[in-house]
Amino acid sequence: MKLLIKGGTLISPDQKEIFSTDVLIADGKVAVFGNNLEMDRAFIIDAGGKLVLPGLIDLHAHLREPGFEDSETIATGTMAAAKGGFTSLACMPNTNPVADNSSVISFILNKARQGGKVNVFPIGAITAGSRGEELAEMAGLKEAGAVAFSDDGRCISNAAVMYRAMQYATMINMPVIAHCEDTRLSAQGAMHEGYYSTLLGLKGIPAAAEEVMVTRDIILAGETGCRLHIAHVSTEGSVQLIRQAKARGLRVTAEATPHHFTLTDREVTGYNTSTKVNPPLRTLEDVNAVRQGLRDGTIDVIATDHAPHAQEKKEVEYENAPFGISGLETAVGLVWTELVNTGILSPLEAVEKMTANPARILGISKGILAKGADADLTIIDPARTEKVDPARFVSKGRNTPFAGRMLAGVPVMTIVGGKIVFEYAG
Ligand code: DOR
Ligand code: ZN
Repeated sequence: MKLLIKGGTLISPDQKEIFSTDVLIADGKVAVFGNNLEMDRAFIIDAGGKLVLPGLIDLHAHLREPGFEDSETIATGTMAAAKGGFTSLACMPNTNPVADNSSVISFILNKARQGGKVNVFPIGAITAGSRGEELAEMAGLKEAGAVAFSDDGRCISNAAVMYRAMQYATMINMPVIAHCEDTRLSAQGAMHEGYYSTLLGLKGIPAAAEEVMVTRDIILAGETGCRLHIAHVSTEGSVQLIRQAKARGLRVTAEATPHHFTLTDREVTGYNTSTKVNPPLRTLEDVNAVRQGLRDGTIDVIATDHAPHAQEKKEVEYENAPFGISGLETAVGLVWTELVNTGILSPLEAVEKMTANPARILGISKGILAKGADADLTIIDPARTEKVDPARFVSKGRNTPFAGRMLAGVPVMTIVGGKIVFEYAG
């Protein structure tokens, strides 16, 4: 099967360029670039006025399978990814059982191969059961196909355990993805600690809960030489700490989520549990610092932290609701509306943070659009706008604080390995 994408504008991070070209896809690979390409028996895709990108990669998603299939499955989560313009995602190990051994990694890979719409790269747990006590069988996880280690959702409180984990990960050349949260500081908190938490009478999670652990993990990465990736950066202080670490030449990278560069803690005032997320929505100063961090390269990656929850789990008092936002189906629209159309990022910079950069951190041969590369492509219509309607989500998680928002920039086609896995139907 051949696909010929005609008349699109290509954004190519590997060539650091944007240009008009047709793209021919054959046998699951990118075959030819050029203008006015013709090909018999090829399926023609009209990309006039559209942007053709390397398939987007989400470095941080929760697929919930095995164990929490009422919230999401590998099938539904990857369907949501395809609709959101993602061709690959890395999934976090906080499933049940936790992905702390090779059989869970194999299970995820098999399920993804059988019923997944996009490429799935599992992340293995750092510690057994993500309990933060003993290291998981890290080499075995790598061998089974894990691309990184993380205890995301939980922080490893014990510095000695994190230190050993980083030493071990460095030895086998794997990145560690840190969920930075001092759980004594954040204990029982439901939202950012500040003016609005006082006003609403909710227990707060101070910025320091994140920054204390960002500091610790940067120090440990410096000691061990570990490739440290800091998940979901939410505070101005964290952005500064990461900026300093990079200036010192440490192998530290970081990600921000669309909700953290868009929303503030003021959003919590209606007690809508879809605004409850960990780390919490912070202040306007924090949001602006995250945007600045994205702009100056301190923050390398935009990742969704897609955290779907079954509706009944979120339909409880704010204090009792689980943390998380269903993010795969709104990410592109938020990046385009909040960062590209505002001039904070160029289209090329935005695309780099969702393709080449996450691919480099995970060490996967994705995220570029060169001849011979896997034909994973995303086509977006930057001129189209659409209202967020959670009732139309294909994810099982409808927990979004963006319902009703008009977003510009709509994924219109997603191609994985030369096959169309999603096409926009209006
Ligand atoms: O909001 C969040 N939800 N933050 C996390 O760190 C974990 C995630 C989840 O698994 O629901
Ligand atoms: Zn996390």
